[in-house]
Amino acid sequence: MAITDHPITAKAHTNIALVKYWGKLDEQLIIPQNDSLSITLDEFYTQTAVQFDPNLAADEVVFDDQILSTTDSHRVRTFLDQVRALAHIDYRAKVTTQNFVPTAAGLASSASGFAALAGAASRAAGLNLNRRDLSRLARRGSGSATRSIFGGFVAWQQGHDDATSYAYPIDEQPTWDIAVVALVLTAKQKKISSRVGMKRAVETSPFYPAWVTASQADFKTMKTAIETQNFDLLGHTSEQNAMRMHALTLSSDPTFTYFNADSLKAMKMVTDLRLRGIPCYFTMDAGPNVKIICHGNDAKHIAQHFQTAFGQDHVLVTRPGAGISISD
Ligand code: ADP
Ligand code: DP6
Ligand code: CO
Repeated sequence: MAITDHPITAKAHTNIALVKYWGKLDEQLIIPQNDSLSITLDEFYTQTAVQFDPNLAADEVVFDDQILSTTDSHRVRTFLDQVRALAHIDYRAKVTTQNFVPTAAGLASSASGFAALAGAASRAAGLNLNRRDLSRLARRGSGSATRSIFGGFVAWQQGHDDATSYAYPIDEQPTWDIAVVALVLTAKQKKISSRVGMKRAVETSPFYPAWVTASQADFKTMKTAIETQNFDLLGHTSEQNAMRMHALTLSSDPTFTYFNADSLKAMKMVTDLRLRGIPCYFTMDAGPNVKIICHGNDAKHIAQHFQTAFGQDHVLVTRPGAGISISD
């Protein structure tokens, strides 16, 4: 095995969790407290190029056209150390990455970001990992990245160690017409990262044990909903699970929330639309941006409704996206 003599490029999409990962059992290995399940989204993604170079004295990271300081590139460099250990090499790398998704705004940039980095860096290091091993490697960068290796509906099996905690596809190319309307209410970076937020919930929320029990039940229900293409069961379970996760932030000490005024307004609008007979459900990750799960043929109409409230540029219709692609 040898490092490549040219940059390797990988493209990975973000995913939105329908049953969420919110807490680690092992912070070093990123072993979660529960199984989780997501949809990979076609409109949001990261593109990353990596080349290892014997002439480089230090890793170089260019993020959205800016050269990162050593402090800001810490998380990427730590991840590269894991790739180096796996490939038994000691060369530094040049990494160029571009997010086609707002960074750190609850739209899962860490998922597409570390999935793309895992794909590009492993192949640039001379490794040719299968998708399960790629999923395990991506997990070490960010838990949600585990699932972004695959397209469509994806489950992350909790597992109990590095070998057993990985994602697998449930339905990579869904045959039912499902869409996610994403409301980009703000692209501002959150104050409390997912990593810090979930750690606080594990350590201080008295509701945490109930979350784990409820999520494991939600996971089973969600799998059934996908297998039977039961849209209302999928939507209802997503909403319940999202609100249970956000109840963990509210019940943490110190308390915090990812909701802002527009998130609350948007969630109310979704409930109202549903009462008017349009099947749609909301979910939110660790950020104020709301995602609306709906039938594909209602997506345009729903998007227009939210564009009127929040502005044309703040609403995007996305559909199930593909798994990771890596250049030769
Ligand atoms: P998000 O909701 O966007 O996933 P997180 O708090 O989970 O927010 O993670 C944001 C962090 O993920 C960023 O501060 C950065 O460290 C990392 N990240 C985001 N995009 C990339 C990328 N393209 N390459 C490497 N790391 C990334
Ligand atoms: C709310 O995967 O971003 O989006 O593993 O610490 O990097 P780290 O956290 P991250 O957390 C994602 C939390 C979530 C739910 C989910 O994607 O399952
Ligand atoms: Co994240």
